[in-house]
Amino acid sequence: MYYPDEIVEEIRMKNDIVDVVSGYVKMQKKGSSYFGLCPFHNEKSPSFSVSPGKQMYYCFGCGAGGNVFTFIMEYENFSFQEAIKFLAQRAGVALPEAEYSEEMRKKDSKRARLLEVNKEAAKYFFYQLRSERGKAGYQYLKGRQLSDETIKKFGLGFANMTSNDLVKYLKGKGYEDKLLQEAGLASFDEKFGMHDKFWNRVMFPIQDINHRVIGFGGRVMGDAKPKYLNSPETMVFDKSRNLYGLNIARTARKNNIILCEGYMDVIAMHQAGFSQAVASLGTAFTEGQASLLKRYAQEVILAYDSDGAGVTAALRAIGILKEAGLTGKVLNLEPYKDPDEFIKNKGAQAFEERLGQAENTFFFELRMLQRDYDLKDPESKTRFYREIAKKLCGFPEEVERENYIQAVADKYQIGFQNLRKLVLSYASQTGLAKPVERPKSGIQKKTSPEENRKKSQRLLLTWLVEEPSLYEKIRKYISPEDFTEDLYKKVAVKLFEGLEKGELNPASIISLFTDEEEQRAVAGVFNTRLMELSTKQEREKAFHDIILSVKRNSYEYFSGQLGSDVNALNQVIAGKKALEELSKTHISLD
Ligand code: CTP
Ligand code: MN
Repeated sequence: MYYPDEIVEEIRMKNDIVDVVSGYVKMQKKGSSYFGLCPFHNEKSPSFSVSPGKQMYYCFGCGAGGNVFTFIMEYENFSFQEAIKFLAQRAGVALPEAEYSEEMRKKDSKRARLLEVNKEAAKYFFYQLRSERGKAGYQYLKGRQLSDETIKKFGLGFANMTSNDLVKYLKGKGYEDKLLQEAGLASFDEKFGMHDKFWNRVMFPIQDINHRVIGFGGRVMGDAKPKYLNSPETMVFDKSRNLYGLNIARTARKNNIILCEGYMDVIAMHQAGFSQAVASLGTAFTEGQASLLKRYAQEVILAYDSDGAGVTAALRAIGILKEAGLTGKVLNLEPYKDPDEFIKNKGAQAFEERLGQAENTFFFELRMLQRDYDLKDPESKTRFYREIAKKLCGFPEEVERENYIQAVADKYQIGFQNLRKLVLSYASQTGLAKPVERPKSGIQKKTSPEENRKKSQRLLLTWLVEEPSLYEKIRKYISPEDFTEDLYKKVAVKLFEGLEKGELNPASIISLFTDEEEQRAVAGVFNTRLMELSTKQEREKAFHDIILSVKRNSYEYFSGQLGSDVNALNQVIAGKKALEELSKTHISLD
């Protein structure tokens, strides 16, 4: 952190969250909180709440949450530093100037250096595109009908013909060889020494959601191979957790996201006004990307290439979207290959119409399945219907399943009752997908031990925030050491420190985390509503289960460390004693 904690806290306290958020969201007071329509996802009834007491916000719809810094970061797309500056100004707090320079350089992590060198490289490419040497690149992009505005918006650039000019430029700016190699911008070999990775290509800088350049894609200007060259994964470039264009799409405020395959597709769609388009990064769509999307939209429209590879990729993506709890639709681009070509030939209006006609993913899957069968042949047709019935067993919820049976029966002209019988007969052989059961403690039995571990630690923190008086009753059994998850341990240290003094200040704990993902996770801890457990016994049992689970896990963890960690033995001995005592002790919630 480049500003001292006290200043950060002063700025936070001088910016009342209700005041600040009111500038962006219309809210109404209900009970002790304010409610309004969430600015981070599309909704019709308000699930976004701001608590003046906690000085935090939380959306029960999309899970966005945090303190006043997080809000400004998310809303304005600011980094933590930028949010601090913004709010300091708003409240008239003077920021110390000197903090930034020497001190910061020293503390600067590898991450920051990588981001910095990427930014310099992007600036260099950007400048080259506008110079005499970059003419070919500029003309290529113009030939693909990109406007100057679009080129600027995406920061497109050009890597020269010469093989080491970027290296020279960056070394001149003081970046060492090793960093250039680690950033994937250059490589070294005996014969040529340090040389550029990209040359004679138009360059697409890849940005994270905060507009920081994390890598590059470079395209040849003709038909040479490989068509695209991409930066390797680095400490700042995780291809499975970023999406091209999401930095812009996240603030598009449309009620869907369009997911496609190519950089050029994203750019063409944005230029045509579809600023909610994103693409994966030269790799297949991942779960991590799905959960990222879930923060910004509930519905994802797939705009994959219409060739065989595109269909296969779309079918895979559908599964991942479903797993993540997102609804999907599939865009039909026929007779064109991809969104870029479609828009070039048919224009934005026609594209908009196709969006309106996008197909339900289940029907898309059936249509693709159907290609393997000959519906004129009764034998083949029957097998096709059986496959449909099998797929229908995949809907865990009865109402939804029945709706789909009805819709499929209509569409394929199968008797509703016949199809229903077929589904049930498969179900009796293989079983229907069951709705997930949630045990009352909130700890799910079926998830991995890893997940359970995290969850019980998180829930314990949540309980303590909701009912601080419990701290007195458990402090002799549990300490921050028992939290084996790094993030939760950090939170526990601060929370316990506060509770020890009889203070509870969740909003200030969030400021200790500068990474947006971490802040979000911490905000989640402070805002999760504990499951509505009706009786006192149920609540006591649930709480007891959670403490035991945290303690047992920590005991097992430290037992595993015996021999390598001197501190572990003490932990194990104390842990064993606490566990025995805990399992016999009744902790009352009165
Ligand atoms: N891709 C890649 N390496 C290749 C080919 C493709 O990394 N050799 C990735 C790129 O991210 C590309 C995406 O896969 O954007 C889709 O590929 P393709 O459809 O071939 O490219 P387009 O984006 O359509 O590019 P263009 O229209 O310029 O041909
Ligand atoms: Mn294309």
